[in-house]
Amino acid sequence: MIKSGPIGVFDSGYGGLTVLKEFMNTLPEYDYLYLGDNARAPYGTRSFETVYEYTLQCVKHLFNQGCPLVILACNTASAKALRTIQQKDLPKLDPALRVLGVIRPTTEIVGQYTKTKQVGVFATKGTVVSQSYVVEINKFYPDVEVYQEACPMWVPLVENNEYLGDGADYFIQKHIEQLLKQGPEIDTILLGCTHYPLLYDKIRKYTPAHITILTQGQIVANSLVNYLSRHSDLAKYCSTGGSRRFVTTDDAFSFEQQAGVFLGEPIKAEHLSW
Ligand code: DGL
Repeated sequence: MIKSGPIGVFDSGYGGLTVLKEFMNTLPEYDYLYLGDNARAPYGTRSFETVYEYTLQCVKHLFNQGCPLVILACNTASAKALRTIQQKDLPKLDPALRVLGVIRPTTEIVGQYTKTKQVGVFATKGTVVSQSYVVEINKFYPDVEVYQEACPMWVPLVENNEYLGDGADYFIQKHIEQLLKQGPEIDTILLGCTHYPLLYDKIRKYTPAHITILTQGQIVANSLVNYLSRHSDLAKYCSTGGSRRFVTTDDAFSFEQQAGVFLGEPIKAEHLSW
């Protein structure tokens, strides 16, 4: 039996906070429970099986905490685990519960931004190899050419608090050059990893000014507004008290320091050990 509880927001680490922040701005009335699996981040270089296993474990934890709805605020988990969880696990766990990802809402609208019909995607290796962005964008926009670039160092730069440092510039410039070499006519770049908005200023600095850079947070928040308005049967179980709870599988104090900076307000975090 489904009970009322917070909306669960999950990511391998800090990246999902860029999505949560937009949820908090757009739908402040809801309660949110954030789970960052920082102890096992990054997911981007891990196998399909491992990402699925870790993601399912975290989703189950959020359900056990009373979340009727969980958002995978992680592209890698959305690409590698979402469908299996929705189709195989949810019917057994409780068919009334819901898990949603971040790829679908993004691919629905990305084609609206390009005039050249060439879109670039920066993402983790796992997301790139899954081909999810290519397949999903072409479903909605068959005439758009999608170029992908895996950036395996970008998530570690964020997780290790080096994203503002000079070392980040090298890896950012390198991948922008490689992407634009693949598709010189690209006029729209999607940051297809929820960690990457934290690198936005540097990415913007090295990307030609005529190219639009899209981040996912607001896109996913708008999509959640739409989803909840269409699913009042589920929305009535999403509790509204404006509370926020943060749980990490790594050190709670470090999480508080870093997450507080990302969100622009002090937070309290709890450590989760399995
Ligand atoms: N934020 C995750 C994503 O959107 C990062 C994955 C990772 O841990 O490598 O893909």
